[in-house]
Order: sequence, then structure tokens, then C-alpha cells
Amino acid sequence: MEPDLNKKPLNEWSERERIRTVKKIFSTITPRYDLLNHILSAGQDIRWRNFTSRRLPEKATRVLDVATGTGDLAITIAKKHPRLHVTGVDFVKEMMEVAEEKTRRAGLMSKIDYVSGDAMRLPFDNNMFDAATIAFGFRNISNRIGALREMSRVIKSGGKVLVLEMTLPRETVSSRFFKWYLKNVLPRVGRVISGNKDAYDYLSNSIEDFLKPDELTEYFKQAGLHEIKVFPLTLGITCLHEGIVP
Ligand SMILES: C[S@@+](CC[C@H](N)C(=O)[O-])C[C@H]1O[C@@H](n2cnc3c(N)ncnc32)[C@H](O)[C@@H]1O
Repeated sequence: MEPDLNKKPLNEWSERERIRTVKKIFSTITPRYDLLNHILSAGQDIRWRNFTSRRLPEKATRVLDVATGTGDLAITIAKKHPRLHVTGVDFVKEMMEVAEEKTRRAGLMSKIDYVSGDAMRLPFDNNMFDAATIAFGFRNISNRIGALREMSRVIKSGGKVLVLEMTLPRETVSSRFFKWYLKNVLPRVGRVISGNKDAYDYLSNSIEDFLKPDELTEYFKQAGLHEIKVFPLTLGITCLHEGIVP
């Protein structure tokens, strides 16, 4: 894997290095990705996605799920809101193949379509969607304000951007425990089940390196979003940030 995760701190990676690494990781851990998510979050990831889908605008009819991966959020949204059409976009084909298979098994093919594309250059016209979501994909993107602006571009005025992401609370008992968990448990369990040590070292580092909730709020403001709300979930280890497109 390039660059060497043990030698180069994440914040020194170039955008090219990050993209190449992210693509490589998600194309290799695909078969075990869902299982590991549920194990490593003790099933909380399902609650977090349910919560996100409840925060969609009531009158929404078209939603974009960016970095859709194996489609768990897209499928949750389609099940909870039968009137909605969801488009999932991701740049790793192996992840989206799993998403398509799960969508077929759930009988939701008419409700969800999957498109290959990069979050920084979404392959859609302006103002096409009522909302855009991104779950656990945002921390993999280097230009975060750019990504928020790009999501806003494809959303109609008055629509919503929702970012669900693992965020470490500032110095609290739960953050100390969670940091210990990230260093000692997540990489080991990830390595044993996925067989890929580097991938789960990267995931652990990328969570630790990610923005604090108030920093992400500031990015929302800089991207021009309004009426920003933050919902800490499960002792704040994950947060949902949402903002309205002017
Ligand atoms: C941790 S997975 C999250 C998948 C899914 N949203 C979920 O809730 O389980 C991250 C996904 O983000 C995708 N991703 C990362 N950067 C991306 C980018 N710039 N454009 C499109 N997809 C991206 C990866 O390919 C991967 O499938």
C-alpha cells in the first residue's frame, strides 16, 4: 500500500495518495465490510443510518447518497420512505456491486439506482436532488469544503446536506475510551476478519485524524450552508451534521 501508513501521518498525504489508498482499501475489504461495520460498532451503525434517514426533508422525492459503498444508507432510506427515489454514487465498483446485489435481494431495484462517480465531481446537473447524504465517506475526502459545495450544487435551493461521520468528542471519559478502542481493538479485529492490516490501521487513523464536530460545523458555514444542526449519537462518537442549501 502506498504511502506507508506507519511512516507518513495522514495529514501529510497528497490528494492523489489518499484517493489511491482509499480505492485500494475499499476494493479489497468489500466482502467483509458490512459484517465488520456491525461488529465494530456493536450494531450502532444501523441506528445511526436510521436516524439519518429520519432527518430527510419531509417532501423530498429525490435523494443522492454520496460514497454509497455497499448501499446500506441508500437501502435504509428507500425502505423507510417508499415515495423516494435514491441515487447512490461511489468510485469503487466492487462496493457498488455488493450494493446492487443487496438492493436486488431487497426488491428495491425500482427505488435505487447506482452511478459510478467521484464525490468531488458528481456526474449530475445542478439542482437535481432534494437532499444529499454521505455516511462514513466524508473523512476519506481531502477537500472537505469543496465536497460540501459539490453536494450543494446538485441540491435544489432549500434542500438539505447530511453528513454522518465518526467524530471523536473532545477530552471526555468516552473519548479516552474510544481512542483506546481505535488504537487497540479496531485494527486487530479488522485485521483478523478482513485479513487486511493496513486497511483497518488506515480506518482507525482516519477517524482519529478527523475534524471535531465544531470544526465540521465551521466547514458547513464556509461552504455556505444555513440552519446548521448537529446531532451527537452514541456518546458523541458519531455525529450527524445537517445544513440547508440557500
Ligand atoms: C466507509 S465506506 C461508507 C459506505 C457507506 N456510505 C456506509 O454507510 O457504509 C466509504 C465509501 O466512500 C467511498 N469514497 C471515498 N471517497 C470517495 C470519493 N471521493 N468519491 C466517491 N466515493 C468515495 C469509498 O469508495 C467507500 O465505498
